[in-house]
Amino acid sequence: MYLCLFILCYVLPYYAQPQAKVLSLPLVINTWPFTNATKKGWEVIYTNKGSNLDAVVAGCTECEQQQCDGSVGFGGSPDETGETTLDAMIMDGDTHDVGAVGDLRRVKNAIGVARAVMDHTENTLIVGESATRFAIEMGFKEESLATNSSLAEWKKWKMSNCQPNYWKNVVPDPKTHCGPYTPEHSQLLRDRDFKKPVSRLNHDTIGIIVIDDKGRVAAGTSTNGLTFKIHGRVGDSPIMGAGSYASNEAGAAAATGDGDIMMRFLPSFNAVTMLANGMSVDEAAKRSIQPIIRYYPKFVGAVIVANVSGDYGAACHGLKSFHFSVRVKEMSDVTVVEVPCI
Ligand code: GLY
Repeated sequence: MYLCLFILCYVLPYYAQPQAKVLSLPLVINTWPFTNATKKGWEVIYTNKGSNLDAVVAGCTECEQQQCDGSVGFGGSPDETGETTLDAMIMDGDTHDVGAVGDLRRVKNAIGVARAVMDHTENTLIVGESATRFAIEMGFKEESLATNSSLAEWKKWKMSNCQPNYWKNVVPDPKTHCGPYTPEHSQLLRDRDFKKPVSRLNHDTIGIIVIDDKGRVAAGTSTNGLTFKIHGRVGDSPIMGAGSYASNEAGAAAATGDGDIMMRFLPSFNAVTMLANGMSVDEAAKRSIQPIIRYYPKFVGAVIVANVSGDYGAACHGLKSFHFSVRVKEMSDVTVVEVPCI
């Protein structure tokens, strides 16, 4: 009798109550072991008590200046004309304001220009030469994004008959074996397997999420896209819901990988929607990638996810594992976390 009363009064209420979660905010998390970017973001949000948007810009700018893995910023991923072009976006989870640039030419600080689109226009995405014109108007410097190494890489590719490339169902110029290409509809060419150069090494977008100590969320991306991409190609990174997505109601997500495929599935938007429905960060990350694999079993990419309580996680496919960088107060420095892929 006394035992029953004890269980009813003391033991059951303890188990019925949700355990109070120790919030660990602010939080900075970004794709890949781009730890200097995480450090910069942390410096802004924690040390300098700056805003989450400023921290996103600082993290991505650091990677743009350091040419992280050659896949962010100037001097990497020359397109088929030898030019490096940039994609970037930033999203404020408080207001759902977004600024983005695609196929930005001759301006190094793509994330800065994306922020200017958000801060100084009612528009969302500006592309190509028009994005360059906008950037110059906003005070950004116009300069070549080519380097000796990006030009050497491009020349070597030209010498190899512009292979591999991203064209399909076309015939190259018979003299150059490169462009201009003409459409070809014969079954023979349709079935030919054009080799595509998608790999970890030419797909290392920085995607970053910053949540401040009030749970306010921001996210962003910056990349120079695919090596030897078709001139004018824009990837997933500046597409909201694909490259990244942020909402104070749930959290944020950011993606890296084969953007031509990812933008068909909006994995970042899906992950945040799943967080809003109460799913854990790990599960939301996994489930945002699963529909992609059903259609594209060879897909290579990853998604990082964080919720407004400060939980974070990631999921990936097509690699052995994926590394992301993270910093919260409890860590003495930026930590690189490895997750096995599904
Ligand atoms: N995820 C980078 C790109 O495909 O452009």
